[in-house]
Amino acid sequence: MAGFLLPTLSILCLIVASVTAWPIPWPNILSTKSSINDESWIINPGEIPQYVTEYAPVVHLWSEEKYLPYDIKSFVSHFYVKDNFDQNITTNADLPLKLAVLGNLTALSTPPLSLDGEKDTSDLFLTALDNFNTDPDWITGMNNVPDIGTGYLKNAPAVLIVVDKGDGWVDAFWFYFYSYNLGPFVMGAGPYGNHVGDWEHSLVRFHNGVPQIVWMSAHGGGSAYHFDAMEKSASDQKRPVLFSARGTHANYAAVGQHSHDIPYYILSDFTDRGPLWDPAQNCLAYTFDGTTVTHANGSHPGREETYGDWLNFAGHWGDKKLSPDDPKQEWHVFEWKYIDGPLGPLSKNLLRSSVCQRSKWWNFWGECRIRTRINNGEGYDAEGYEGCGAIFSTIRPVWLRWILWAFTWRGYGCTIIDRFL
Ligand SMILES: *[C@@H]1O[C@H](CO)[C@@H](O)[C@H](O)[C@H]1NC(C)=O
Ligand SMILES: *[C@@H]1O[C@H](CO)[C@@H](O)[C@H](O)[C@H]1NC(C)=O
Ligand SMILES: *[C@@H]1O[C@H](CO)[C@@H](O)[C@H](O)[C@H]1NC(C)=O
Repeated sequence: MAGFLLPTLSILCLIVASVTAWPIPWPNILSTKSSINDESWIINPGEIPQYVTEYAPVVHLWSEEKYLPYDIKSFVSHFYVKDNFDQNITTNADLPLKLAVLGNLTALSTPPLSLDGEKDTSDLFLTALDNFNTDPDWITGMNNVPDIGTGYLKNAPAVLIVVDKGDGWVDAFWFYFYSYNLGPFVMGAGPYGNHVGDWEHSLVRFHNGVPQIVWMSAHGGGSAYHFDAMEKSASDQKRPVLFSARGTHANYAAVGQHSHDIPYYILSDFTDRGPLWDPAQNCLAYTFDGTTVTHANGSHPGREETYGDWLNFAGHWGDKKLSPDDPKQEWHVFEWKYIDGPLGPLSKNLLRSSVCQRSKWWNFWGECRIRTRINNGEGYDAEGYEGCGAIFSTIRPVWLRWILWAFTWRGYGCTIIDRFL
C-alpha cells in the first residue's frame, strides 16, 4: 500500500506547494519610514562594535561545493543592466560595469514608475554579457576555497551590516555572496530554480554587547536559535558555526539532510563539514539606520570607499528569469529551471523586530520560533541521530511503528511532533 500511497501523497504535496508557494510580499524597507527607536541608539554611524566581530559566525562550505563564494566587484564586471522591459540601462561607456556605479543607476522614466511617482529601480537586472550556464570561472568562483589553516577566503569579502535597534539591541547581519544558486533536484529530476547571483545571510542579535540569538537564511525563510544552543568553533568558543548547503547555500546549524518547504524530503538540502570559512577575516562593513548606509571599516580599512555605494542598488543581482522560448529554460510542475536573480542585502528586511526575515506560506500565523537545541539533519551525514524520524524507535509493535513512520516521517506530522520536543 505504501508503495502507492507515498508517491500519491508526494504528488499531492507538490501540487499544493506549487500553487501556494509564491513568496509572501514583504514591504520594501527602503520605501518605508524607519520604525527603529533612534533615541536610544548606542552605536554611531560607521562604528562597528568589537563584540560584533568577536562573536561572528564561521561557515562550513559543502565539501565538494561547485559554486563557491565570489567577489562582488569582479562579479559585476561580467554584466550590463537592463530593466523589466529589456531596455538597456547601462551604455557601452559603463562597461565593464563597476560596483560604485550600481547605486547610481536609475530606471527609465516610462515605465516603470511606482505609485508615489518615484522611479522604481527594483526591476533592474544585472544581465550576464556571456553565457552563464557553461560554468565559467566567475560563476563557479574559481576554486575560491578558504585557507585550511586560517579560514581566510581571499576573493570573496563577506558583507557586514550593523543595525542599531535601540534600547541596547544591535543586529549584526553577515551576508555571503555566491555567483550562482544551483536549485534542488525534485524526485531525481532537475535542478530547478537555478539563478545567477545568490545572497544568503545570517544575523547575530546582541543585547548590551551580549549575543542572544542567531538566525540564518534558507530559501527565503530561515531558522533561529538561542546563541547558547549553537555549535561553537573548535578554535574559538565564542563563534557560532553555520553550514552552507550544497548548491543552494542555504544556511543550517547542523550537518546532514534538511527537508525544506514541502514534506517527505522531496526537497532537500545537504550540509557537511567542508572547508571552514571565516567571513570576519575578509569583510566589508557598513552601518544602516533605516535610510542611510554608512561606510565603516571591515577587515581591510578604506576598502569600503573604493567599493562605493553599491548597497543602494535596488535591482536584481542576476539575470531575469529566462523566457519560456529560451532553449535553456525548462518547465517543471515545481519550478522553472532558471528564475530571477535575487535582490540585494537592503531588501532583506534589515529593520525586522523579530529575528525572522519573514514567514513562509505554510506559517500563516507568522510565528518566529527560536530553538533552544540544534535541529539535527538526517541521513548519512547526520551526526547524532536525534531527528524527528527517530522518535518512533521505541514504539511497539513494529507494525504500528511502521505505520506512524510511513505517515509522519519527515512529513508534516514530523513538524508537529517537532514542536513538542
Ligand atoms: C544592451 O547592452 C548589451 C551589452 O552591451 C548589448 O549586448 C545589447 O545589444 C544592448 N541591447 C540593446 C537593445 O541595445
Ligand atoms: C554617484 O552619484 C553621486 C551623487 O550624484 C556622485 O557624487 C558620484 O560621483 C556618483 N558615482 C559614480 C561612480 O558615478
Ligand atoms: C576607517 O579607516 C580609515 C583608515 O584607517 C580611517 O581614515 C577612517 O576614519 C575609518 N573610518 C571609520 C568609520 O572608522
